[in-house]
Amino acid sequence: TTLDIDPAAYETGDHASFMRKEMLEQPEAAQRVLRGRLDERFGTAHLGGLNLDARETRAIKRVKILGCGSAYYVGQMGAALIEELARIPADAEAASEFRYRNPIIEPDTLYVAVSQSGETIDTLLAVQEVRRKGGRVVGLVNVVGSAIARECDGGIYLHAGPEVAVASTKALTTMFLGFALLALQLGRVRDLSIADGRRLIAGLERLPAQIQEILDREDEIAELAGRLADAESLFFVGRVRGFPVAREGAQKFKEISYRHAEAYQTSELKHGPLALISPDVPTVAIVPADELADRNVGALHEIAARRGPLVVVTHDGVDLGEVAAARIVVPRNERELDPVLMTIPLQLLAYHAALRLGHDIDKPRNLAKSVTVE
Ligand code: AGP
Repeated sequence: TTLDIDPAAYETGDHASFMRKEMLEQPEAAQRVLRGRLDERFGTAHLGGLNLDARETRAIKRVKILGCGSAYYVGQMGAALIEELARIPADAEAASEFRYRNPIIEPDTLYVAVSQSGETIDTLLAVQEVRRKGGRVVGLVNVVGSAIARECDGGIYLHAGPEVAVASTKALTTMFLGFALLALQLGRVRDLSIADGRRLIAGLERLPAQIQEILDREDEIAELAGRLADAESLFFVGRVRGFPVAREGAQKFKEISYRHAEAYQTSELKHGPLALISPDVPTVAIVPADELADRNVGALHEIAARRGPLVVVTHDGVDLGEVAAARIVVPRNERELDPVLMTIPLQLLAYHAALRLGHDIDKPRNLAKSVTVE
């Protein structure tokens, strides 16, 4: 691995593992990525390192986000933020697949590479492919001076601090916030109103304390993780903004608990996977208090009718009706920013399930912190 830290100099302190230490550092990491970048007066963000002026920003017709694994899932959350706030069509793609389909590189597309280590070979090669064909790439990268950071035309450093555990936590949270800042800056040069810009800024400023509120409920979440740890197979489901959250939750769970965890759009359950629901197959469902809440609850009824155990990550005020489910109620923020808060309990679920199963939390089998060879 090419991590630029000396693990001996960066100890877990009182914590049982790096993963736990890094989860608990998230409120501070969130503050660091935001620091000095919010402009309340104009309701915008300042990301000088992007090297994009207003004229260039207005010319962007599409945004394509490239990353691997969890960075790809956060990239999907980032694409939603950019579409909603900047009204630019945006999507995320696994960087590991991108260059193999001879992608069409368009001059008015902004490419965004997202990576904690900045050394992931698939992401680096995707960046090189775009640049070789004349595209412009900006990076959302944690490790300063890393290969991807050096290769990009500009970017944002995430300031998450060193991340050692293979299962990424705080870096992902700062990636989400990096995307929120990017979406805010792009949006305010385009059609986002100053009032909406300020609304988002106020939401971003509330986030660190809300992340802390969730972390403070670790014991309650650990108890629920205990109920999931023995299942051989689980579903993680969510819709629209909640779907990448479910994908990231399933990823974290399988990485360290070695259980089969599959993410699905809640709306797609009835098109096939419902056949697998049984008392032995729990579902973790993402159900924010949004316009889809009633439909989500309808799907939970289908699961409950087949006696599938349910853990629902939700907001106060969502009425689950007759559905018997364990709930993790997270604080509400602005609807665009809610996904990041919903990922925090999923980290704790994975961590406590793995702990209960006696697994090596920081170095799960078969995995490396950064994948630097193809
Ligand atoms: C996250 O928990 C994973 N270990 C993995 O998917 C990771 O996010 C991926 O390999 C990308 O790494 P990067 O952010 O360093 O590029």
